[in-house]
Parts: sequence; C-alpha cells; structure tokens
Amino acid sequence: MTPMTPITGGPRSGPPSRKTSGRRPSDRRASEGRRASIDPSKLVRMDKVPHLPGSDVFNVVFVGAGNIMFGSDEGPWNHSFRFEHKLGPRLKVVALIDPNTERAHAVLAAKCATFVRSAYEATRVYKSLDEFVRDVTPALAPRVVVVGSPPMFRGTMQHGRDIELQILKAFPGVALFLEKPVATGPAAEIAECFKVAETIKASGSVCSVGYMLRYLRGVQMIKKILDENNLIVMATVARFACAYEAIAKPDWWDVAKSAGPVIEQGTHFCDLSRYFGGDVDIASVEAHALEWFEQPGHLSAQKIDESAIAPENRVPRVTAATWKYESGAVGSFMHVVALHGHDYSCELEVYADGYQFKLVNPYVQPVLYIRRPGSDSEETHRFADDDPFFSEVSNLIDVIEDIEEDPECDPILSSFEDACKTYELTWAIRLASEKSRKPVVAKRDAAPTVSS
Ligand SMILES: NC(=O)c1ccc[n+]([C@@H]2O[C@H](COP(=O)([O-])OP(=O)(O)OC[C@H]3O[C@@H](n4cnc5c(N)ncnc54)[C@H](O)[C@@H]3O)[C@@H](O)[C@H]2O)c1
Repeated sequence: MTPMTPITGGPRSGPPSRKTSGRRPSDRRASEGRRASIDPSKLVRMDKVPHLPGSDVFNVVFVGAGNIMFGSDEGPWNHSFRFEHKLGPRLKVVALIDPNTERAHAVLAAKCATFVRSAYEATRVYKSLDEFVRDVTPALAPRVVVVGSPPMFRGTMQHGRDIELQILKAFPGVALFLEKPVATGPAAEIAECFKVAETIKASGSVCSVGYMLRYLRGVQMIKKILDENNLIVMATVARFACAYEAIAKPDWWDVAKSAGPVIEQGTHFCDLSRYFGGDVDIASVEAHALEWFEQPGHLSAQKIDESAIAPENRVPRVTAATWKYESGAVGSFMHVVALHGHDYSCELEVYADGYQFKLVNPYVQPVLYIRRPGSDSEETHRFADDDPFFSEVSNLIDVIEDIEEDPECDPILSSFEDACKTYELTWAIRLASEKSRKPVVAKRDAAPTVSS
C-alpha cells in the first residue's frame, strides 16, 4: 500500500434522530459470557422491511465481484441484492474492487440494465484497494466496505493478505462486513487472525462476519428459549452433508486452495455449534476422516476432474469430530461429501435439561422441532420465507445507522474475534483428522475405484 491520508466517514446528512456516536462493541454480550441475540419476531421478510428513511446517500464499497456479492446458481447468497432492498435509492456503490475487472464490468453492466441502475451507474472498478484509495474523494468515502474476496487474501497482518487493516488505515471508523471464513492460510497463521481481531476491536468500527445462519429465525428462537429458561447447553450435534454433484469449482476440491471442506464450508455449522455451546477447549478436539482413497470414499458424480489435483490435496469424503466446550458440554460435528443433486442436508441438535432442539434444513426450508419438559412429543415450527442473508445485512445497516434506540437490542451476532474462534475450531478438526489418517501413498494403489 502507498502512504495515504485517512479519509473518515462518507456523506452523512441523515435524519437527526440517528445516533452517530457511542457505538457498542459488536461482541459486547459475548464478552459478558452471554452470546448476542435478536428477538426472532424482529427478523422479518425483505418485503416487510421499509426502506430506511432519508434522502442521504449511503456509500458502499464491494471488494470482490463474485458469487457471494452478485449471486450464482449455487445458492441463495447475493449481498448486492440485499443491500439494494435495504437501502433502496439511497444505495450508491462507489467502488467495485476485483483484479478480474472484466467480471466486475460485466456484473455492473447487468445491474445498470435494471431498475437498480442508480446504485451502480457511477460505480468505478478498481483492481485493488490501493487504486481506489489513490482515487477516492471525501464524497466517495464508504460507510461500509463489504469484503467477499477469497479468504486467502484476508485475515492476516501480511502485505497483500491484510485487507481489513488496510481498509481501517485508509478509512478509520468505517464499518466492515467480511465474509467467512476469516482466512484460509496455514494453521500457524491463526494467531495473526486474532491480532487482526484485536485491531478491529480497538478501532471501534462496526464489524460483522458472514455467519448468516445465526440470523435464522429458528436459531434465534432456540436462543430465546434457552435464555428465557436459564438453560445451559449440554450438547450440540451438527451434521453438514453437501450435495457434491453441484460443486463445480475445482479449487473447492483442493485442500491446498480451499483449506478443505470443514474450514471452507462446514465452518457454518461449527460456528452455529459454538453459538450455542460457547468456547471450545481446542485441545480436546478429536476427529476421523474417510479419505478419497479408501473404498467407501469413491464418488461417482463428481463434475470436476479430480485426477488434476495432487493426491495428498484431495478432500476427505467424511470428517467426524467431537470436542469439549469450556463449559463442560460436549460437541460433535460431521461433514459429509456424499449427496447428489443440488440441496444440502444439514441438521443441528441442541440439548439442555428437559429440552431438545432440532433445526433441520436451514439452507433450504428451515424447520425447528422442539421437545420440552412435560411432553414426549415434538412441536414443529416452520419459517416461511426466512432470509438470513437479508437479516444480517439489514441488521448491520441498522447498527451502522444506530437506528435502534435500545442499546440491548440488535447487536451484531458474529464479531471478527468470535469468527476467529470458529476458524480455530475448524482447523483443529482438520488437523485432528489428518493426524488419525493412514498415509495416502500406502493405500492409494490398493483402492481400485479411485478416480486418478
Ligand atoms: N455465507 C455464505 O453462505 C457464502 C456463500 C458463498 C461464498 N461465501 C464466501 O465468500 C467468499 C467469496 O466466495 P465467492 O463464491 O464469491 O467466490 P468467487 O470465486 O465467485 O468470487 C471471488 C471474487 O474475488 C475476486 N478476487 C480475487 N482476489 C481478490 C482480491 N485480492 N481483492 C478483491 N477481489 C479479489 C475474484 O476475481 C472473484 O471475482 C469466500 O470467502 C466464500 O467462503 C460465503
């Protein structure tokens, strides 16, 4: 990065009732031993949320012009769409930063061909944050920077992989939205992630990490019942079975590039487990994996050519882990690469004295089954049109604008520090599973069905 003069704040001429100071730390309640939560009745459908009042523009910078930012067939994610709905005509995307400028121009052209044109017609494309910082004027300073670049370029203190620190240096106090996982470097760099967390916390900036499942109405319903009944979680059981046939990105299948399916994908369920179980005793993590070269690990519907990936870098088909939470509770997690088709099959169970909560299918059509004291039967709760991607964006904007007058309400549910702890857990699972595996080369030739 070149030396630069910090630019503070974007245009702010909103309604005077909004507080702009006294920001509460995003992990305030977490640091008090109780995790942040939101009243589930406040998590409403996108079309039920009115656009924020005011005529002031809300400058946003997007880092990354890929699927998470502009959508794809792979899933319901598409941050730009949620920002458009939350901010309406106030949204101005002042910059789109992506080294693949062709892709950036293509997504902007598509936006400008629609009714959201006003948010994008003046968007400038830059190859790097540096370029943008050299060009920016106070009128173009962002209120929030949304980072959806690949995690290998984030979460460290190293040049070129320290986007969070560079953003805060150029725009002190700017709000951050950062995608999960916080990084994907080697395990030895985890300590650096925590240093980034310290810097973000010390800056006082609002920072939200994209663990959107925390914003599911079903998740917040579980949280509410636990809190209202002073329950202590005894166990969490999480299962994440992806539909591998639909995963067409070659990098996903290469642990040297993606860091593996637990760190890249299962992270959502490890995070949810931590949301309910609390901090994990990392030394207690144990895990086993079914590897690609073992007989049951043969896959018949891969859409990529796995033979192009080095044998030692091919993803495990099943990873199963258990651990102790610092509270004494027990957690377990299984990631499975087995399903065909498109939809993932995911479930989370949470147990407390007298209670079983079973959250099923949170990605597609969440259903929550609850068994309570006094009955052996389960209640069923369905959450039509729940959109956690919208809820996390909507909540973030409200926190940035300090819309909520009650300081106990609507905190950010996933701070950077908390997301680092999830990252640390997923690395511990990967390392424990690798420790228990048999050497690749020894078994490789014995497996008749491998695809290499
Ligand atoms: N929360 C979710 O459910 C969810 C869903 C999808 C993706 N994600 C996360 O979002 C992130 C991006 O995933 P994706 O699917 O959009 O990937 P993608 O490959 O579709 O897009 C990434 C984009 O970033 C660009 N890029 C590369 N290096 C960059 C840099 N240094 N600065 C800026 N841009 C850079 C690439 O050119 C590409 O256009 C990942 O961390 C992924 O885990 C989260």
